[in-house]
Amino acid sequence: MKIMVLNGSPHKEGTTVHLLERFITGAKEAGNKIVRFDTAFLKVHPCMACNHCGNGDRPCVFADDMMRIYPELETADGVVLASPIYYFGLTAQLKSVIDRFYGIDKKLLAKPKKSVLITCAADPDREVFRGIIGTYERMLHYLPWEDCGRILAAGCADPEALNRTKYLEEAYHIGEQLR
Ligand SMILES: Cc1cc2nc3c(=O)[nH]c(=O)nc-3n(C[C@H](O)[C@H](O)[C@H](O)COP(=O)(O)O)c2cc1C
Repeated sequence: MKIMVLNGSPHKEGTTVHLLERFITGAKEAGNKIVRFDTAFLKVHPCMACNHCGNGDRPCVFADDMMRIYPELETADGVVLASPIYYFGLTAQLKSVIDRFYGIDKKLLAKPKKSVLITCAADPDREVFRGIIGTYERMLHYLPWEDCGRILAAGCADPEALNRTKYLEEAYHIGEQLR
């Protein structure tokens, strides 16, 4: 399978990256091809709702880094959404990319995909993930994509905290089971 990883963290060696790299190791061992985009280092204009795209009939008016993401997204068999919690939700960098899915909605709705959520937060209370879980579940229901696993790393303010948990191992296993 071709799996697209969309990383929303601006930390190049942060908690999210540690988790997604374990996921990628497992997924590659299972024979999957990975295409990764670090959204914090891309130029992606927020959707302006001009509707010029017709949800996939015409190219988006913003010829930015989404032009590299769109063809990979369209053909991917799986999509991983990876983001730290920022103020109870996804980072703005990843949200901007997801909003621009709108530009090819018709094409996305035509091809089912598998999906994985990887997220982390400083707060040890798993209620901190309520918003991101809601977004993820409604997105999957709409597209419709199949949920193939979730890493919800609570109480992990930094990568060192992961070493006291099972989340890295879980990330590896979710990757390794994707095929
Ligand atoms: C702008 C900002 C907002 C944050 N908001 C929350 C929050 O609402 N709840 C929480 O538990 N942690 C919050 N955090 C902490 C991060 O989610 C946590 O440190 C995470 O491990 C960072 O992951 P990263 O290294 O991949 O960026 C926030 C961090 C930043 C920088």
